[in-house]
Amino acid sequence: MALAMNNTPEFPVLIDKKKIDAAVRRLAAEISRDYRDKNPVLLGVLKGSFIFMADLVRQLDFPLEIEFIRLFSYGGGTHSSGSVKMARGVPLKLKGRHVLVVEDIIDTGFTLAHLLHYLKEKEPASVKLCAFTDKPSRRVAVLNVDYVGFTVPDKFVVGYGLDYAEKYRNLPEVSYLED
Ligand code: XMP
Ligand code: MG
Repeated sequence: MALAMNNTPEFPVLIDKKKIDAAVRRLAAEISRDYRDKNPVLLGVLKGSFIFMADLVRQLDFPLEIEFIRLFSYGGGTHSSGSVKMARGVPLKLKGRHVLVVEDIIDTGFTLAHLLHYLKEKEPASVKLCAFTDKPSRRVAVLNVDYVGFTVPDKFVVGYGLDYAEKYRNLPEVSYLED
């Protein structure tokens, strides 16, 4: 792996900044069309969604609320453990609210299946999913993803919030780890 001058490895870029910006604008337009009069709760899954959420909400010009939930599904590596843990519940009443879950990536789908189960018990008016990236080739849980930024191949991706062992979330573009 080549090291750049600043000691950050140079990974091959999968999605560049221009494509990210265009996708965020497209998703924002779709979400605006569907949620403009619904005062939705955008529920980001930490940590991976933080940059996507920040870019997305700045393209939305209607009333909404932002909440985050912390879920853990990975150890330190690149394979899902299948077990999902939640750090704390949602500190906001969701009953009767329109909830839009904002995720960085959907892989096996275990994380979101677990979260959807938890959310349904809160009796929201609706729950939809918005994923910055989707890796459908590895899906196990059956999920309907309502808004997708990019469908990505079966590679481990980093950057734009996505990490490998907590590193590289700060890379502005989406890159992939070579096997
Ligand atoms: P599941 O398998 O539950 O996984 O859908 C979702 C969570 O797994 C992490 N994940 C990744 N993180 N690059 C990452 O940085 C990847 O390619 C990747 N695949 C899965 C991520 O935290 C996601 O929320
Ligand atoms: Mg995540």
